Amino acid sequence: MAAGKGTRLKSRRPKVLHEIGGQALLLHVIAAAKAIAPATQIYCIIGHQAEIVRAAAASTGVHFVLQPEQRGTGHAMQQLREHLIASGQPAPENLLVLSGDVPLIQPSTLQALCNFHLAERAAMTILTAVPPNPTGYGRVLRVSDTSSEVQAIVEQKALTDDQLSAPEINSGIYCFRTSALFAQLDSLSTNNAHGELYLTDVAALLAAHRERVVAICSSGPTEEVLGANTIEEMMHLDAAMRLATARRLMAQGVTIFRPETSVIDAQVEIGPDTILQPFVQLLGNTRIGSNCRIGSYNVLENTQLGDNVLIRPNCVIADATIGDDAKLGPFSHLRPGSQIGPEAHIGNFVETKNAKIGRGAKANHLAYLGDATLGSNVNIGAGTITCNYDGEKKYPTAIGDGAFIGSNSTLVAPVSVGETAYVGAASCITEDVPAGALALGRNRQVTKPGWVSARKQAAKRCD
Ligand code: UD1
Ligand code: CA
Repeated sequence: MAAGKGTRLKSRRPKVLHEIGGQALLLHVIAAAKAIAPATQIYCIIGHQAEIVRAAAASTGVHFVLQPEQRGTGHAMQQLREHLIASGQPAPENLLVLSGDVPLIQPSTLQALCNFHLAERAAMTILTAVPPNPTGYGRVLRVSDTSSEVQAIVEQKALTDDQLSAPEINSGIYCFRTSALFAQLDSLSTNNAHGELYLTDVAALLAAHRERVVAICSSGPTEEVLGANTIEEMMHLDAAMRLATARRLMAQGVTIFRPETSVIDAQVEIGPDTILQPFVQLLGNTRIGSNCRIGSYNVLENTQLGDNVLIRPNCVIADATIGDDAKLGPFSHLRPGSQIGPEAHIGNFVETKNAKIGRGAKANHLAYLGDATLGSNVNIGAGTITCNYDGEKKYPTAIGDGAFIGSNSTLVAPVSVGETAYVGAASCITEDVPAGALALGRNRQVTKPGWVSARKQAAKRCD
């Protein structure tokens, strides 16, 4: 169910597309569902900003069911029923219902829920939890404390005074015998605080029809079944998720100082003996080898690192690859398409973009290398700029193995510098430099001995 408005978020973005752990809530939920069922058997109910949600989840391969008006979770199930009838597909015997805003749910918990549902031969099985603060959630009222059977789910706003302390919450995740669920959907009413059709009311309806309604309390951490209705709740789940990722990595031999300060997306992988200093962000599809050291305040996105890489603090790196034993930073900016070779050094205030840097090459200070290919052991002096853009098009610069570019040089692309060639400091290079040559592209220095005192004497004469 991903059709709701998310009114409590006060956001223009659909609630289920808000991100935790670097991924939209809905994509977390679909991933959990796909771990136990093929995408072709998964139906995603969309409604509020449906096309945006559909586009964001299209690549998962699930079916979409439109709920054009969002009249509650019971109404969402009515739309599913109509969709299945219209499609002519036989309804599955049992149905697992997930909420698009309960993102930390794990496949093992879903599997346990399904197994319990089948073993109990229940018409409805509710996944529950007993969190420290149940306020805001629907409460599951069992027949007795020791029974797995449920009388009803009561929404927060409908709780009587003596029900207010009921500790067991409805996670919004259920299993149904499909025929039993569908048979009750038309009996739902809007006689409640929100004027909506509540799926939760199906519990009492089924119980009244002597159908078996049971609950299973989740045995995992409570965050796993908590919902995200507000930004604050989302950030709580985000922190829980990232801490779980940090714990997973630490268990694999990664040292993370002050793990509560690191922001690591769920799919990031890191080899053993790598050390993360505090306040590091590792985002997207980032993979880091072993024995690397990542200094504080580094932000790495979709970046692949080899082994033994040192990244000093304060680098911003996106869509880049970095070879073994390379050294970066502090304050390097590696933009998409940067391929830093093994043992290369990229230093402070060096920006690379679509640049291939050869083995052992060095650009240690203040340079821009865009659309450039550098061979091995090239030395780039401070202040070197590849002028790759003429206002309309981009052009390449090629620098051969072992070439030396003097400080403050500008290389006007398209241009090449051959192997072992030298470019004198402060040169503006507009023509190719052959291998082994020295190129000087600057004015010869003019020196005027005694010029200062001569000027002073001339000034005196004028007085
Ligand atoms: C719901 C439950 C509550 C439970 C809580 C757990 C109901 C009536 N209440 O409350 O007992 O404790 O979840 O998190 O179900 N949705 C639709 N179509 C709609 C309305 C909602 O698809 O017309 C989707 C939403 O996008 C969301 C999910 O259903 O992903 C739950 O809806 P929400 O409004 O957040 O329900 P809660 O008030 O949290
Ligand atoms: Ca909710």
